[in-house]
Amino acid sequence: MRILLIGANGQIGWELIRKCTDYDIDIIALNHQELDITDPAAVRNVIFHTEISLVINTAAYTAVDRAEAEPRIVFAVNRDGPGYLASCCSEIDIPLIHISTDYVFDGRKTTPYIETDVLSPLGIYGKSKAEGEIEIAKRLKKYIILRTAWLYGIHGTNFVKTMLHLGRKQDVIRVVSDQYGCPTYAADAAETILNIMTEIIKGRDDAWGLYHYCGEGVVSWHGFAEAVFELARKYDSFEVKKVINIPTDEYFTPAKRPAYSVLDCTLINQKFGIRPRPWRDSLAEMLARRARLNASCRER
Ligand SMILES: NC(=O)c1ccc[n+]([C@@H]2O[C@H](COP(=O)([O-])OP(=O)(O)OC[C@H]3O[C@@H](n4cnc5c(N)ncnc54)[C@H](OP(=O)(O)O)[C@@H]3O)[C@@H](O)[C@H]2O)c1
Repeated sequence: MRILLIGANGQIGWELIRKCTDYDIDIIALNHQELDITDPAAVRNVIFHTEISLVINTAAYTAVDRAEAEPRIVFAVNRDGPGYLASCCSEIDIPLIHISTDYVFDGRKTTPYIETDVLSPLGIYGKSKAEGEIEIAKRLKKYIILRTAWLYGIHGTNFVKTMLHLGRKQDVIRVVSDQYGCPTYAADAAETILNIMTEIIKGRDDAWGLYHYCGEGVVSWHGFAEAVFELARKYDSFEVKKVINIPTDEYFTPAKRPAYSVLDCTLINQKFGIRPRPWRDSLAEMLARRARLNASCRER
């Protein structure tokens, strides 16, 4: 069984490459330089000329604030690219697993979002991801779209690593406390993708569609930051003495973000038996793994 992974150098892509050694699959992993999904000819060439049974797309334009200033490229990557992938997969009748985001919602709900809730993104990034979902669903039957949220991991840029970096330099950090979501460890998301992929490979043909998957539990960015320092102090020393909570309107960002983007993960549990772990447990695991990796780098 050979699969194609696109976006291999992203947070989830990096974890997928490491985890797939535990699964009996041959993976062709391409990074941005090796395949640009905004180039339809390149997409066709790779999909039609590589013997593959399934495509996983983790490539995306993910810089939420920068996206506001360059919508053309954002829509090319997050809407058109997935559309090209879906068309090619449809032509040769292979499935596509694709990742989307909680930012397709406006955050006005006060209870967790379900898969069929109305899309109403607040910014260019969320709008482009929402349109990417629509392009896939229009062109392909055999797709899985996994909407996830607040991703962090060992590899790449993310909120946890930014906090760890700031915490070493500053004694006070101000973090927004009126936006709520579900932190999701990229390694957990990768494992979920591989579990779904395994079902598909075994012949599961009744579960195509869209699913929510994120860490279990709800927290604000402020609460998330406090947990990062609480758990990371076991491995590191920090300058930070206080994490101050501030409202969104005291922290200007070019893109508006949903105040509440909690995803309901009931459906993925019903269809695949996948149950997300509490976000704090995953965060603790990520920080411990990071400390081990840093220690082994220092020893070399
Ligand atoms: N990050 C989050 O908090 C978050 C939350 C919810 C959902 N998601 C979704 O989860 C998925 C994975 O996110 P992530 O955080 O793992 O992303 P990431 O770390 O930003 O990685 C995305 C990868 O896509 C590559 N890429 C960008 N443009 C490309 C193109 N035209 N062709 C091919 N590759 C391209 C990037 O390469 P370069 O860096 O070289 O450009 C990068 O390696 C995305 O679909 C994202 O929308 C993310």
